[in-house]
Amino acid sequence: MVKICCIGAGYVGGPTMAVIALKCPHIEVAVVDISVPRISAWNSDQLPIYEPGLDDVVKQCRGKNLFFSTDVEKHVFEADIVFVSVNTPTKTRGLGAGKAADLTYWESAARMIADVSKSDKIVVEKSTVPVKTAEAIEKILTHNSKGINYQILSNPEFLAEGTAIQDLFHPDRVLIGGRETPEGFKAVQALKDVYSHWVPEDRILTTNLWSAELSKLAANAFLAQRISSVNAMSALCEATGADVTQVSYAVGKDTRIGPKFLNASVGFGGSCFQKDILNLVYICECNGLPEVAEYWKQVIKINDYQKSRFVNRLVSSMFNTVANKKVAILGFAFKKDTGDTRETPAIDVCKGLLGDKANLSIYDPQVTEDQIQRDLTMNKFDWDHPLHLQPTSPSTVKKLHAAWDAYQATKDAHAICILTEWDEFKTLDFQRIYDNMQKPAFVFDGRNIVDVNKLREIGFIVYSIGKPLDAWLKDMPAVA
Ligand code: NAD
Ligand code: UDX
Repeated sequence: MVKICCIGAGYVGGPTMAVIALKCPHIEVAVVDISVPRISAWNSDQLPIYEPGLDDVVKQCRGKNLFFSTDVEKHVFEADIVFVSVNTPTKTRGLGAGKAADLTYWESAARMIADVSKSDKIVVEKSTVPVKTAEAIEKILTHNSKGINYQILSNPEFLAEGTAIQDLFHPDRVLIGGRETPEGFKAVQALKDVYSHWVPEDRILTTNLWSAELSKLAANAFLAQRISSVNAMSALCEATGADVTQVSYAVGKDTRIGPKFLNASVGFGGSCFQKDILNLVYICECNGLPEVAEYWKQVIKINDYQKSRFVNRLVSSMFNTVANKKVAILGFAFKKDTGDTRETPAIDVCKGLLGDKANLSIYDPQVTEDQIQRDLTMNKFDWDHPLHLQPTSPSTVKKLHAAWDAYQATKDAHAICILTEWDEFKTLDFQRIYDNMQKPAFVFDGRNIVDVNKLREIGFIVYSIGKPLDAWLKDMPAVA
């Protein structure tokens, strides 16, 4: 029996390994982590992450050929293939702070593999890492090898949260990079044999190590760039009377462009896009390519602009002040169908509104008040460290509370901000909501999910990203 161990039981390690275990019953899969609460949750009925379909997959394999454990060393020692899926946060201090990837956790995992191994191993980079990381890992392993042979592979993960299980069942592609040597090809084949249990042969791409590492950063940069492009257009739509939904539909009909990832929004969030683009920018700078670095930096700048533009629009529409006004925030997660709040645009929007002294009433079906408090009091980039190493903030934000549902959140509010596109927000009884709000009642839709005309008929003043402005908003001062 082949044994696989995955270091890091997070959003990637957990679902990825659960699907390998499901599709390859003859392989024993152990997912290990230094976080005791996380592993306990994986072994309970309340999994540590919310992901549609995940419960079912875990229930089918856990205890059979899928195990979650904190005994990291034992499982690494026993494994033939070791995946490393630990955090690769943005560095917060030292060389490259604010841009470069912090490989502390990766390096400590590699050193631990070198310490405990007594047999040959294939070590797979599952985390997103800077191009050339495999070389560094190879050096750590071979300098401490005690005669053991290691092959390093790059097998970046392309799943998106909220659709992780479907993405893993039917990936657009699986990418495997390895050394172009006989041993390297053999290792690539061994990993290919795992995936080929359910992924069609023509979807498993093999490349050299550096192409695989860079392709992951490139794919995320391209996806984020599409969102920043459409968001930049949304500002122009508001200025001209064009409708961004119509523009992106027309643009996406061009088969060379395609319709996906052209939804204008309050800004992209999530643990990957910003981190990976900053990392790409840093790599370009280190390789003497400042123009290329500047090009990709712009994707982040437009994203920041989009978030502050949204806050400015809201405040300026409401007579230039939201001080002590109740603002209902519908949705805090960075997208629907996840409870993940890492780099969610809601953090910047809420901080902006709190800066203007608003009272926030926040409702998200999957995010707790504790999590919201942590997010709003934590320093930038601190979130991307193993949970038990994150600083516990002594302060709490007094001017916010979490609501049971959208109706409680919006009661007596002056304004509603929709920040996550949860399906349940599309079918709310907006007449009932309007009747219970202060007047004039505002809706700021950061996800373009409401029927603007219907809400205007009810009496709301509605702002929806990139849509023609109503008379009220047109009369308000220009937004910076
Ligand atoms: P995560 O924070 O959810 O999980 C990482 C886990 O690694 C944590 O539970 C942490 O405790 C554990 N860990 C850290 N150091 C360890 C060590 N030395 N030994 C054992 N466990 C250790 O992160 P994630 O979202 O799963 O992301 C992991 C990697 O995958 C990152 O590089 C990320 O960029 C990449 N990635 C993430 C996604 C996504 O959608 N979240 C998608 C593709 C790629
Ligand atoms: C992303 C990549 O899609 C995935 O391939 C990679 O492995 C990890 O990073 P994820 O961050 O989970 O996945 O979600 P994604 O669906 O890409 O959304 C990212 C952000 O962009 C979200 O905040 C989402 O709301 C936003 N978005 C997405 C838009 O604003 N408009 C769009 O058209 C699409």
